[in-house]
Amino acid sequence: MDKIVIEGGHKLNGVVEISGSKNAALPIMAAAILTDEPVTIRRLPNLTDVRTMATILNELGIETLWSDGGTTLTLTTKNSAPCTAPYERVREMRGSICVLGPLLAKRQKAVVAMPGGCVIGLRPIDLHLMGMRALGASIDTEHGDVVAAAGRLKGTEIFLAGPNGPTVLGTANVMCAAALAEGRTIIKEAACEPEVQDLARLLNKMGAKISGLGSKQITIDGVDKLHGAVHELIPDRIEAGTYMAAAAITGGSVELRNMRCGDLDAVVDHMQRINIRITKLPDGCRVEPDGELAPLNFATAPYPGFPTDMQAQLMALLTVAKGTSVVTEKVYPDRFMHVAELNRLGAKIHTQGSSAIVEGVESLSGAKVIASDLRASAALVIAGLVARGTTEVKRVYHIDRGYERIEEKLCALGARIHREHDPEETAPAK
Ligand code: EPZ
Repeated sequence: MDKIVIEGGHKLNGVVEISGSKNAALPIMAAAILTDEPVTIRRLPNLTDVRTMATILNELGIETLWSDGGTTLTLTTKNSAPCTAPYERVREMRGSICVLGPLLAKRQKAVVAMPGGCVIGLRPIDLHLMGMRALGASIDTEHGDVVAAAGRLKGTEIFLAGPNGPTVLGTANVMCAAALAEGRTIIKEAACEPEVQDLARLLNKMGAKISGLGSKQITIDGVDKLHGAVHELIPDRIEAGTYMAAAAITGGSVELRNMRCGDLDAVVDHMQRINIRITKLPDGCRVEPDGELAPLNFATAPYPGFPTDMQAQLMALLTVAKGTSVVTEKVYPDRFMHVAELNRLGAKIHTQGSSAIVEGVESLSGAKVIASDLRASAALVIAGLVARGTTEVKRVYHIDRGYERIEEKLCALGARIHREHDPEETAPAK
């Protein structure tokens, strides 16, 4: 297994290109199940999760043809008999759940292993199942699998929010299933995330009739058949936000290119409140310091609120702010695995329920830390950029799930960072 080694204290300066969105890629790839014609996806990031989804689709009878140096993928159904996403895959990546809706709509059957809990907390799929049932599917759980079956699905009205708000992949699943259902489906309290909007745009290119994109109410008029399409993914807003935080913690000046600032309004606003100047540019933005880092009280929320996927990275930044901050996690109330590791780097953070109190310190000091999940790893790398001495972030396979060539991109900005084999870590903990 590899580790990332960072020598802290070097300002980031220069330009970084943002990759295509991982969280848009996964449901969009799964949507290829809905047609017998080729679906071509451009600007795919080279990430473990994307490769895992390609493997799942292969196993579901879909040919995967990579081109343009691995950034374009053409998916063509060759065999529409397989209907099973086994536990071995689902435990590798919970995003595999997004094959459920497409399988059920197109192949009338889906067997998808129930995802277990994970380090960011309980991650139930009850809303996905409720949505499928509302569309007319019968759902059983047998031996750890969800077994769903249906004739042609039937459009209906579905209220899709749970205790922590709407569900992103649940909305994606219902939208895919309803695209081929008979009649009209209205999803109330739908997720508005840009990734959900991107999926709807692809489905519409395939002949679906979806309106209300980006609002809490999505209307889907079912069609008999979907056809092939070509689609370019939106930029990864969480990768962009992560580079904003990385630039900001070092006090450097970095230009982010190939991104959409409009998808990051809450992040930009929160950065500005802690004295980071963000100048919008036609194709991205410039990030630079605007005074001393100030503390901030903030809470995560579904889009357009502050994303839970940026909570750990902003917390890393607040560890060295002048004063005390309060971070409240409202989407995944237990998503604080990074706190103990940031404290190993000298941060002063304690948690109280779903809040973390962050007392800003003068400086962090490098140490060995363990990445527990994707965004926690990013937070540790960000902290390592300013920690005195050397920081080793272990178990970096987490970071490879969601950040394309992170050490290369940071190195090009002037960070002293490299990847090396970690003899202390052997088998990847799933
Ligand atoms: C997506 O997960 C993202 N994953 C997550 O990104 C992201 O953190 C999350 O949305 C929230 O923005 C992908 O897109 C692949 P949810 P998803 O269903 O769709 C509760 C990352 O780091 N809930 O929107 O699985 C749930 O427990 C990852 O890239 C139910 O109660 O998340 C949570 O509190 C991690 N019942 C809230 O809803 C359900 O059936 C939102 O979860 C489903 C969810």
